[in-house]
Amino acid sequence: MATAAQTPRFTHPAARGTCPFAPPPAYRQAQQEEPVSRITLWDGSASWLATRHEDVKAVLADPRFSADSTRPGFPFLTAGVRQLNAGRPTFIRMDDPEHARLRRMLTGDFVIKKVEALRPRIQRIADDLLDRMTADGRTGADLVREFALPLPSLVICLLLGVPYQDHEFFQECSRVMLRRESSAEEVGAAQDRLVDYLNRLTEAKRTQPDDGILSRLVERGELTTAEIGAMGRLLLVAGHETTANMTALSVLALLRNPDQLDHLRRHPEAVTGAVEELLRYLTIVHSGLGRVATEDVDLGAVRIRAGEGVVCMISTANRDEDEFPDGDELDLTRDARRHLAFGFGVHQCLGQPLARLELQIALATLLRRLPELRLAVPFEDVRFRGDMLIYGVHELPLAW
Ligand code: HEM
Repeated sequence: MATAAQTPRFTHPAARGTCPFAPPPAYRQAQQEEPVSRITLWDGSASWLATRHEDVKAVLADPRFSADSTRPGFPFLTAGVRQLNAGRPTFIRMDDPEHARLRRMLTGDFVIKKVEALRPRIQRIADDLLDRMTADGRTGADLVREFALPLPSLVICLLLGVPYQDHEFFQECSRVMLRRESSAEEVGAAQDRLVDYLNRLTEAKRTQPDDGILSRLVERGELTTAEIGAMGRLLLVAGHETTANMTALSVLALLRNPDQLDHLRRHPEAVTGAVEELLRYLTIVHSGLGRVATEDVDLGAVRIRAGEGVVCMISTANRDEDEFPDGDELDLTRDARRHLAFGFGVHQCLGQPLARLELQIALATLLRRLPELRLAVPFEDVRFRGDMLIYGVHELPLAW
């Protein structure tokens, strides 16, 4: 049984290889040679790395692995992430029963039936954005700025009761918070500004209630303004960054795989399955999910001791050949539903029904309305977000 004495294989995150859609080769190599291995983190500390589908699922489903970032040994991915979780952890970094108590206050807002009722409004938002993007005979635009980012931002603002006119402010805060190179001070300052803003907004809902989530949490009377503000921050950031990046990166992946794009154009009804395959293939939460062992646990050939961290690489798990044969291929006809792009276990993404619906509407509407869609710059010039905690592209210049 191997233990922490093993030599670290590399420093996390390792460099990407030639294919910008694929996880860095070092993780695929680890998956084949030593599926549970040792890595070094940014601050020189050591952590375990889980790379196989089976092992990642096992860790994320096992309550002996804690998501509580205040526990010693928790593997922070950057200095900024440590700062994000320093003062006011939200329920994503808590264990049950506290995690479940807080999450339960929101589950009703994100169940499939409730989300499906938003379909006409999301469709209208997508159409309005495309109307504007193509107005006055325009034949090109940056998809990120004009469509992929505003769509989920408008939707999450609507749900929370946050004024969309403040989007540049909260998008900038979240950019700083999610940039790998941001210092702890920069992340702390951006987070403080965002939390102050949400606290003030929450306070205002006490006298001017609306039908948004923040107002509903105020009316419930169980949480302080600061607790509601922290929840609002989690939803606002998670609710727009992820879907925005998935949308733009999906469009790029389809343009690079013309046979798959053609398949989706000819079978628009296949968009539901196509979104699952794109989630698997692209896995934008590319830095992995951190957990820390609360007692000794055997994982594969390895004994993880209490207090040792594990980084679960959902990106390599989603290309595990045992689970997804030819996993490096984008195949929209594949049944990809076992992917772990939304995580697994009690922390599995709360917003996934909303993310799925937004992605289905965004892709279907784009392909239907812009049949000539193509990249407006050489592929080599596209700037990928290797510098961010959520992967994607910084901008996507398209022509039609
Ligand atoms: C394509 C889009 C999205 C992806 C790939 C994604 C991915 C993830 C992943 C991997 C986790 C698990 C984190 C962990 O276990 O440590 C997670 C959790 C979470 N996500 Fe998402 N997400 C997306 C969209 C959204 C949206 C639209 C919302 C909100 C409206 C949202 C809200 C949350 C929340 C609140 C959690 C924490 C759940 C908990 O701890 O119980 N996400 N997401």
